[in-house]
Amino acid sequence: TDYNTILVEVRDRTGLITLNRPKALNALNTELMNEVVDAAEAFDADPAIGAIVITGSQRAFAAGADIKEMSVKDFSEMSTEQFFSRWDRLASLRTPTIAAVSGYALGGGCELAMLCDLIIAGESATFGQPEINLGVIPGIGGSQRLTRAIGKAKAMDMILTGRNMKADEADRLGLISRMVADDDVLPAALEVAGTIAGKSAIASALAKEAVNRAFESGLTEGVRTERSLFYSTFATQDQTEGMAAFVEKRDPDFQHR
Ligand code: HXC
Repeated sequence: TDYNTILVEVRDRTGLITLNRPKALNALNTELMNEVVDAAEAFDADPAIGAIVITGSQRAFAAGADIKEMSVKDFSEMSTEQFFSRWDRLASLRTPTIAAVSGYALGGGCELAMLCDLIIAGESATFGQPEINLGVIPGIGGSQRLTRAIGKAKAMDMILTGRNMKADEADRLGLISRMVADDDVLPAALEVAGTIAGKSAIASALAKEAVNRAFESGLTEGVRTERSLFYSTFATQDQTEGMAAFVEKRDPDFQHR
């Protein structure tokens, strides 16, 4: 498929999406949103893909929503277009997603990273929700996901002052999954993706659904959801195979079903 703003490739069972608007520091315009969502949904529908990595450039994962595109819009255009609501579809993919973050992950860039299941970031990566400096607020879930990830005190600090956070602080606060040397960001993300893609895809999908439920609901409902998802793994071939392989002291041969 031909895309204008992203590069797409497959490495083993991993689908790799590279944001590619270098001159605009990968600012997220509507075309890029549509392409990322289309590519991610195509990977999600492909049984040969077991993990999806989204990355940017050395300088910027993404420096935010495209301010030039937004600057001319008014309230009624934004709300009737449901501007940026398509990004929400990334949150409902079944395939695990990994953001490989180098450089700036600001505004919508930080929100895109938080839409992914894991964030692997380089030491000099920078996270922030600077929308307040533009007279707006986060609009792709940042006020919600950042608060759930790092708590109210830190989220208020970031969102009200617009200050940035370096990777070590993000790592300490639990915003990111792993911090690695700058040169290792994509290799590390691809390695983690390869590990995940080697597991049973059906179990991965249920596992991420369970963890996401913790993000979205109370403990009682979350535990109940986990229990029924857990029981449903016993309807899969991969449960039979995984447990048989353990008992027989061999590697499992998952069929992802
Ligand atoms: C459009 C952007 C952009 C953005 C950078 N560029 N960020 N264009 N939208 N978000 C463009 C610049 O205009 C410039 O183009 C080129 O990329 C290089 O950027 P510079 O500013 O020259 O680079 P530098 O001096 O290194 O500064 C990097 C930076 C700065 C600190 C990241 O670009 C910056 O502050 N960007 C905006 C960050 C931000 O506010 N993000 C939140 C956006 S709001 P030209 O053509 O001039 O060379 C948001 C809302 C989400 O995300 C919710 C929406 C509903």
